[in-house]
Amino acid sequence: MARIIAGVTSSHVPAIGAAIDLKKTEEPYWRRVFSGFERSKKWMANAKPDVVIAVYNDHASAFSVELIPTFALGCAAEFPPADEGWGPRPVPVVKGHPALASHIAQSVILDEFDLTIVNKMEVDHGLTVPLNLMFGSPAQWPCPVIPLAVNVVMYPPPTGHRCYMLGRAIRKAVRSYPEDLRVVVMGTGGMSHQISGPRAGLINSKFDKAYLDGLSRDPKKLTRISHMEFMREAGAEGIEMVMWLIMRGALDDKVKEVYRFYTVPASNTAVGHIILENIERKTKARRPAPVRQSPSKGRRAAATPTPPSPASGGGRGGGLVVRSKR
Ligand code: DHB
Ligand code: FE
Repeated sequence: MARIIAGVTSSHVPAIGAAIDLKKTEEPYWRRVFSGFERSKKWMANAKPDVVIAVYNDHASAFSVELIPTFALGCAAEFPPADEGWGPRPVPVVKGHPALASHIAQSVILDEFDLTIVNKMEVDHGLTVPLNLMFGSPAQWPCPVIPLAVNVVMYPPPTGHRCYMLGRAIRKAVRSYPEDLRVVVMGTGGMSHQISGPRAGLINSKFDKAYLDGLSRDPKKLTRISHMEFMREAGAEGIEMVMWLIMRGALDDKVKEVYRFYTVPASNTAVGHIILENIERKTKARRPAPVRQSPSKGRRAAATPTPPSPASGGGRGGGLVVRSKR
């Protein structure tokens, strides 16, 4: 059975990608940002997920105003880089996991979340910058990545609650995939930022930090934040934070916060980052199947006979059928 082991949030500010590509990460301004991800890269190298599901938003690289899917799941075998502004980044092609992605699409759509299935797509800084922050800059990305693009660019984006519930459906989908895969879900974008108009450069650290607290301990509270509140408190692009609720919905209710980092600004944007691990439940030791002894003379075989069960063929004496608990 596949399972989600952890969730991560990460910024996707395009200038972070440019700093990596132009080898400026050691400059004091960028050092401050990148230093916060040193521990995260170690955590990721140690976690070694088999698959990452990356919840991100496209910036008119794959989808223009002609086509605006609310939720688009990448089911392709690979996703080449593309970008606005600086052009395609010199990063490896993102390899997908078509089998798991198709399974998620089926499970989630039958659960009444009407995803768009995407079999050909390019991915921009919204996806590749978070991959760099968590994996560094390897020659190949170390595991397949399933992109889930969310519309947070054109009104109306999905509500935080809808995102959280989609995360829940993804969690169920992953758990019903038969192969033993360890999956990390990334929620990207955020935190407070506004990149145009009179409020450009808006940063609201109080709101951001409360959001990180909520993500860790009380995510359901965050699902009640309206679009207007996000925009008022966190700027027009602060709405990207709804994507983090898909990640959070895909985790268990109780999680362990293993790391957090917050710095302002990177370009126009507050960088907030958190790593939440699902708390591993010890699977109950199975009761050993009873040894069937032939009744010895003069003694009763068993104090309480077990009823026949269909799984045991309903034969004489039944027998104990140990079913694994989910
Ligand atoms: C910036 C941030 C973004 O999320 C984005 O998509 C573009 C620019 C910025 O802060 O410069
Ligand atoms: Fe953005």
